[in-house]
Amino acid sequence: DMYFYGTFPEDFTWGVSSSAYQIEGGWDADGKGPSIWDTFTHVPGNVNNNENGDIACDSYNKVEEDIYMLRALGVKNYRFSLSWPRIFPTGRNNSINSHGGLNYYERLIDALLAANIVPQVTLYHWDLPQALQDVGGWENDTVVQRFKEYAEVLFQRLGDKVKFWITLNEPYNTAYLGYGTGTAAPGISFRPGHAPYVVGHNLLKAHAEAWHLYNETFRARQGGLISITINSDWGEPRNPHSQEDVEAARRLMQFFLGWFAHPIFKNGDYNEVMKRRIRERSLAQGLSKSRLPEFTESEKQRIKGTYDFFGLNHYTTVLTYNQNYPKGVMSYDSDRGVATVTDRSWLSSGSLWLKVAPFGFRKILRWIKEEYNNPPIYVTENGVSERGAFEFNDTWRMHYYRTYINEALKAVVLDGVDLRGYTAWSLMDNLEWAAGYEEKFGLYHVNFSDPALPRRPKASAKYYSQIINCNGFPDPATGPHPCLGEEPEGAEIALYVLFALSIVGALSLALFAYKYGKLSKRSHKQSHMELSSKL
Ligand code: NOJ
Repeated sequence: DMYFYGTFPEDFTWGVSSSAYQIEGGWDADGKGPSIWDTFTHVPGNVNNNENGDIACDSYNKVEEDIYMLRALGVKNYRFSLSWPRIFPTGRNNSINSHGGLNYYERLIDALLAANIVPQVTLYHWDLPQALQDVGGWENDTVVQRFKEYAEVLFQRLGDKVKFWITLNEPYNTAYLGYGTGTAAPGISFRPGHAPYVVGHNLLKAHAEAWHLYNETFRARQGGLISITINSDWGEPRNPHSQEDVEAARRLMQFFLGWFAHPIFKNGDYNEVMKRRIRERSLAQGLSKSRLPEFTESEKQRIKGTYDFFGLNHYTTVLTYNQNYPKGVMSYDSDRGVATVTDRSWLSSGSLWLKVAPFGFRKILRWIKEEYNNPPIYVTENGVSERGAFEFNDTWRMHYYRTYINEALKAVVLDGVDLRGYTAWSLMDNLEWAAGYEEKFGLYHVNFSDPALPRRPKASAKYYSQIINCNGFPDPATGPHPCLGEEPEGAEIALYVLFALSIVGALSLALFAYKYGKLSKRSHKQSHMELSSKL
C-alpha cells in the first residue's frame, strides 16, 4: 500500500507501555503476595526455558532508569500496570500493603509527573492475587466485588494524580488463554467450552462495577477518564469472493473483539453471532441451555456504555475460512468455527502468531468506528518482536512502526477515525509471558545476563522518538523539517536569507509609508488650521 504523508491532530498523545509482572521483579519484596503468574512460572515446563518474573527488569528498584528512557524517547504518556498482590497481598482490601505496594507506585507516578509524562494506569494486567485464585479466581463471581474494592482504594489514593485509568487489559486473553487453552496463568484447560465464558462474564461485570464506581464517586472531583483495553487481530477473508470466508471473518471479529466490545460499546449484551452459535452447539450437545451465560436486564443496563474511550491492543492480521468441528467438541474454538492462515508474503517476527500486515490496522480501526458508533480510540499497544541473535540496528522494528503508524494516520485522515493516542509495546525487553525472555518487544534492549540489567536503546527507539517529534510523517516535498533532524543546507540557506531580507525590506517600506502618511496628514491638518486662523 501507498505511504501517506501527513501529521496527527495536534493534541495526539504518544506513549509506550509495559506491565507489572513483565518488568517489576521484586516478586516477594516488602510484603508483596504471590500472583497467579508467580505460581504459574514456578512450575517447571510452563514457561520457555523455565524463566520467570522473579527479577525481570527489576523496575521495582529502577524507577530512575525507567524514567530516563521515557524522557529520552520524548513520550507524552507511559502506560504501566499495578500489581494487585503487591498492594493487596491476599487480594482483599483488609490487607493493604502501603509500605512496599502503594509506595512504589506513588514514587513512580510522582517521577512521571515531574518529568511531564502522563501516567496511564492499568488496574489489572493478568497478575491476579494467588489468594483469589485459591477460591476460583475469575470463575468465582465474588471476584467482581474484590476487584471493585481494589479499584476503590486506588482511585482514593492515586486518583488526584492519575487521570487515565484502564480497568482490564485484554480480557480475551485472561478468559481464553488463562481458562481455555491454559497456556497462560492460571493454566486451566479442562473445561474449554465453559470456563472462558464464565470468566468473560465476570470480567465484564468487574469492569462495569469499577467504571460506575469511578463515574459516580470520583469523576466529579478527579476529572479523569476510565475505560478498558480490548485486543484483537484483524480477520480478513482468505478469499474475498467466497461468502463462506467472508462470514468466517465476521465470526472471528465477533468472537474476538466483539466478545467484550459488544456488551460495553453497544447494548450491554453479547453479540448475536456468539449467542446463536454457542446456544445451537450447546443444545445439539444435549445441554439444557447455552454454555454462554446470560445477563439479566439490569446487568445489561449496568454494563452498557461503561466506557470513556476504546482502548485497543492490535498486532496482526489473519486470513479466515470456515472450519466445522465434530458436534460433540465443547470449546471456544469449536463454537467459533474459524480456521486461520497467514499470507506467505507477510514478514514474520519473533512470535509465531505475529505477522506483519499493516493494512489490517487501518481496517480494524475503521471497523471499530463503524461498529461502535465512532468512539474515541486510544491504541494502548502495538509493536513487534524479535528472537534469536540480537542486533541493535532493528530495521524490522522501524519498518513495523513506520508502516503500522502510517496506516493509523490513514485511518485518521482518510477514514475519519477518532484516534486520540498511540502507545507502543514495549518500553523495553521483558518477560513475554509463557514465551519467556527470548521474544523481545522492547524499544530498549535489556541485558538480562548482566545483574545490573542495563538498558540500551535499539535503533527503533530513536526512530520512534522522531515520529513523536514530528507528530507523524511530514512530507519531504514541503521540507526541510527540523523535527526529522534535517538541516537546511547550501542553496536552501541562500534562499532563506533572501526570503528573510525581502521581508525586512518590505517591512521597512511599509513603516516608511506609514510614517510618511502620518506626516503628510499632519501637515495637511496644520496648513488647514493655519489657513482658517488667517481667515
Ligand atoms: C499483549 C499484552 O498485553 C502484553 O502483555 C504482551 O507482552 C504483548 N501483547 C505482546 O504479546
